[in-house]
Amino acid sequence: MSTFQAPKGTYDLLPPNSATYLAVREAISGPLKNSGYGYIETPGFENVELFARGVGESTDIVTKEMYAFETKGGDKLALRPEGTASVLRAALEANLHKGGNLPVKLWYSGSYYRYERPQKGRYRHFSQVGAEAIGTEDPALDAELIILADQAYRSLGLRNFRILLNSLGDKECRPVYRAALQDFLRGLDLDDDTRRRVDINPLRVLDDKRDAVQRQLTGAPMLRDYLCEACKAYHEQVRELLTAAGVGFEDDEKLVRGLDYYTRTTFEFVHDGLGSQSAVGGGGRYDGLSEMIGGPALPSVGWALGVDRTVLALEAEGIVLDIPAATAVYAVPLGEEARRVLFGTVTALRRAGVATDFAYGGKGLKNAMKSANRSGARLALVAGERDLADGVVQLKDLESGEQTPVALDAVVDEITRKLG
Ligand code: HAM
Repeated sequence: MSTFQAPKGTYDLLPPNSATYLAVREAISGPLKNSGYGYIETPGFENVELFARGVGESTDIVTKEMYAFETKGGDKLALRPEGTASVLRAALEANLHKGGNLPVKLWYSGSYYRYERPQKGRYRHFSQVGAEAIGTEDPALDAELIILADQAYRSLGLRNFRILLNSLGDKECRPVYRAALQDFLRGLDLDDDTRRRVDINPLRVLDDKRDAVQRQLTGAPMLRDYLCEACKAYHEQVRELLTAAGVGFEDDEKLVRGLDYYTRTTFEFVHDGLGSQSAVGGGGRYDGLSEMIGGPALPSVGWALGVDRTVLALEAEGIVLDIPAATAVYAVPLGEEARRVLFGTVTALRRAGVATDFAYGGKGLKNAMKSANRSGARLALVAGERDLADGVVQLKDLESGEQTPVALDAVVDEITRKLG
């Protein structure tokens, strides 16, 4: 143990479990790469104003959870709490939206930072894989993204998740609803913090988990009854496309989400085995965000799936991913001369594309064979002075225990043949 520990709310990914995280990222990005999404990487920090304007001044993310700081040069920056604002900023900066090839489809994978109260499934440093489709208003695009996330989760073997779907309306109908909701909420018995929320972001009050608040919300005006015809028709098409694709969802009129940029389609993937931090992913349409950060009108839609929580969901369902062992061949030299020769063979095997490891540090046979077994290798390559004098090495099948001498100069071919 060193004097230091991982900061509160963070944890280290260590082998062998870290392989599951890599596999989850692969599983989520696979369907995206297969559907026209190109990879984008943006800095881990941005101008703090980008998030304040993009994610929203009234959100917990911006008011309470941002790692904001001033640099020695006086720049006001923040570690990114989410990916959408950065990706849109980068797309606008590079003019990806110009040239008529819309939507701009991008996917990303990385670390995000929120100063939240840590608990199982909620961390201060976490990992997302996300996708954004920028510049097109088309219900098929919203449906595509939901279908791809569903496909990703299913490819991992997950079954106990549900898709919650809602429409938050647009700049025509939402303000009318907002005012009606504020009228209703101002008549309730609420604490000061919640009253302030009624002024700034009344829709979030619907999301309040406390019983005392929920009880008073019976009879609250519902957005569904205020949606304009265009929003209703749009939403109906998204629902039909999902149904036609065989993707089940639940209409959830109370689904608001914790970021301010959403318009129309919003959705969340919740897993029933995770307790209170049940959202494994979420997203929606953000038709106004580009203008909010100084760009042209670019209706867009996207999602981000939480890698940490997806791994927890796998655990909750008892799913162990079938991850091939990292090492196929483990070389065990007995003696100085064997060490020199086998190290050469290891290098040759690696160059031939065979995943190979070596018993470093002059381990004895017993210890070295233990390491070979622990590595998950199928074959061990053992050589001592006498083998070398005969021009051979011993190739041991670690499953059957069968051992055969192989001519030193034929060993790479023999192993590649054996491993297929
Ligand atoms: P979000 O709902 O804030 O959306 O985050 C997406 C997912 O990231 C969550 O469902 C959850 O799995 C994971 N996540 C969020 N916070 C934490 C945390 N503290 N610890 C562990 N996991 C966490 C967004 O970030 C939007 N940018 C999604 C989006 C993309 N909307 C449109 N495009």
